[in-house]
Amino acid sequence: MTGRPLIYAANWKMNHGPAAAAAFAERFLGLTAPAPDRSLWFFPPAVSMAAVSQAVRSRPDIRVGAQNVHWEPKGAFTGEISIPMVREAGAAVVLVGHSERRHLFGETDEQVARKTSAVLKAGLAPLVCVGETLAEREGGRTEPVIIRQLEPLLDKVPADEWARIVVAYEPVWAIGTGKNATPDDAAQVHELIRFAVGRRGVPGRVPILYGGSVTAANIGEFLAEPSIDGALVGGASLKPDEMAGIVGRAGVTAAARLAATA
Ligand code: PGA
Repeated sequence: MTGRPLIYAANWKMNHGPAAAAAFAERFLGLTAPAPDRSLWFFPPAVSMAAVSQAVRSRPDIRVGAQNVHWEPKGAFTGEISIPMVREAGAAVVLVGHSERRHLFGETDEQVARKTSAVLKAGLAPLVCVGETLAEREGGRTEPVIIRQLEPLLDKVPADEWARIVVAYEPVWAIGTGKNATPDDAAQVHELIRFAVGRRGVPGRVPILYGGSVTAANIGEFLAEPSIDGALVGGASLKPDEMAGIVGRAGVTAAARLAATA
């Protein structure tokens, strides 16, 4: 057993403005109840964070997060958003280095490390994404790519400050494509990530989520893997009923995991 609650994270990407986000929250809250064995993290677009924070204020099991931040607290960075600002809007967690940030907007491994470090210094929790492209996987380069993505992070964040970091393994070829990694493929990379952080002296067990075309139909297979501590969900998180289905199935699976290892 992991000893930690499982984490279900919803990445809404560029969907759901403030009104749609509030409507989602209202419906979702009616479909779910807090459970001690899991935590729900929602990443709405920045303009909708305050609306979601307000809507979920009665639910301590739900945390609101930012999809991206700048590492500087303020300044002349047109179009960027700072960590103090997202905290003021209710964010407790921050998604860092999502593959769309890396591949569509040129975010580098070093920038991901800088952002992660800044998020930790501000007292929020980073959810740091890593993952290989299809060409990298087919070229047998999954392992060096994951290690390359992790190294600047391990250089920048001292081992004893990793306690608040959560990692998401999201193979780029599985995002939004309907193709998942098999639970076994994912588990192998999760073990690689644990090995890479462990050999740099990071103590304890870093929680690692799987992301990439997760749905209510397949979440159970992923959570059956003991090395997978939850899911980062994109497309399927946009509909409250589907997301509630994921969480519901997940709750059953989490309980089964606990019972199986008790
Ligand atoms: P997906 O997205 O579930 O639509 O594949 C996952 C993500 O990008 O975080």
